[in-house]
Amino acid sequence: MKPHVWIIDDEPGICASLSLALKKEYEVRTFGSAVPALALLERESCDVVLLDLKIGSENGLDVLKQLKANDSHIAVIMMTAYGSIGSSVEAMKNGAFTYLIKPLDIDELLIFIAQAVEFRKLNEQVLYLSDALRSQGHYDKIIGESEPMQRVYGLIDRLKDVDANVLITGESGTGKELVAKAIHDAGKRRNERFVVVNCAAIPENLLELEFFGYKRGAFTGASQDRKGKFELADRGTIFLDEIGDMPINLQSKLLRMLQNKEFTPLGASDTRHVDVRVIAATNRDLKAMIAEQKFRDDLYYRLNVMNVRVPALRERLSDVPLLCEHFLKQFSTEMNKSIGGLSAEAAERLMHYDYPGNVRQLANILEYAAIVSPGGMIGVKDFPEEMRVRTEHSEGQSVEEYLCSTTLKDIERRAIEATLRKNNGRRDQTALDLGISKRGLLNKINEYGLS
Ligand SMILES: Nc1ncnc2c1ncn2[C@@H]1O[C@H](COP(=O)(O)OP(=O)(O)OP(=O)(O)O)[C@@H](O)[C@H]1O
Ligand SMILES: [Mg+2]
Repeated sequence: MKPHVWIIDDEPGICASLSLALKKEYEVRTFGSAVPALALLERESCDVVLLDLKIGSENGLDVLKQLKANDSHIAVIMMTAYGSIGSSVEAMKNGAFTYLIKPLDIDELLIFIAQAVEFRKLNEQVLYLSDALRSQGHYDKIIGESEPMQRVYGLIDRLKDVDANVLITGESGTGKELVAKAIHDAGKRRNERFVVVNCAAIPENLLELEFFGYKRGAFTGASQDRKGKFELADRGTIFLDEIGDMPINLQSKLLRMLQNKEFTPLGASDTRHVDVRVIAATNRDLKAMIAEQKFRDDLYYRLNVMNVRVPALRERLSDVPLLCEHFLKQFSTEMNKSIGGLSAEAAERLMHYDYPGNVRQLANILEYAAIVSPGGMIGVKDFPEEMRVRTEHSEGQSVEEYLCSTTLKDIERRAIEATLRKNNGRRDQTALDLGISKRGLLNKINEYGLS
């Protein structure tokens, strides 16, 4: 989308020559008087206004105030034929971006307009970032060197510079959002915005406002123009998170938007076209949802041009140590605590857990431990309840299931192994814990080849 520049000047010659000079880079409109411009601003938005200090009988300063009242982020460049310093100072006080003295130097004007566009963008960025900061934390880099993660990195690499839509799937807490952000950050759109939309959290009647934005006055309470997420993401990436949780009637609206990448903000009269890359994510099984008619198959095929499946943590337990190191470092900094690391037993227990909540759960366990621990090494005693109970049986099985499907010998061997480990190899304590004689324990150790 080209930035919109409006020229308000009663001299047709000025309007025509400026329009000619600007129209290559900007969407230009000219007005011989302020009234129609102000009227149109009710329905359309504009980034920069070049405003004459005297438009016929109209006073440019009054127009400036009205423009700013309508859209406080609009950048207004005053043009004056009189070089009257007094009015120019007054204009700056009322929020003009700058003022230029006629006759205008076109090169200089182009520089100021470019700066004004940037200024407006930054202003919006601030608004957007303060929103984003409130709604989500900062982004960490992706940790993990396991083979399944290498495959993910390979995909990110191949996807980053193409514009194809991407669907990221994977269980909750596996890092789908991190992957989406990584695709954006590594690719050619990295200097533009990465706009997150949580599709599960948008009330049905607000979807259009959220995606497409609105004009001031479009409804009660709309006191400012507000750009929708699609417009904010122009030239960047829009991340449609939790896409599987979007109600089916909204799915069709979204599909329509994705098909033509055109939309009209509520209360506006102009259609806007955007260039956005779409990345969607879900932890749902969309194929199954399609079968149940809860997800539109046409939307699915539009989003799933490329698929990235983020593996569950239990499929890449070899990444656990690196993740632990990363999170412990993060938490000790945040909590200003000196945490030395994990005891051997604690580390071992983390390696033998199946993490239904994936990386998020591991982070939560370690955060809990970091809070509870007085400092120094973190032990099993610092873990939350679910981790203190031993779960050394195969993934996804209950203790009951494990016991029913394992030979007594095997159960015995594992009980001895685990107790020895807990007691750091001390045999008398182990025999005591297991309720057998020391002699009996030694026999078993030999029998099973433990040491
Ligand atoms: N590989 C990783 N390296 C570092 N941190 C990670 C990794 N994967 C996930 N995390 C962290 O775990 C948390 C959950 O990740 P994220 O929000 O990306 O998961 P998700 O797959 O989007 O989950 P959900 O489906 O619940 O939305 C975040 O705090 C994220 O920073
Ligand atoms: Mg997520």
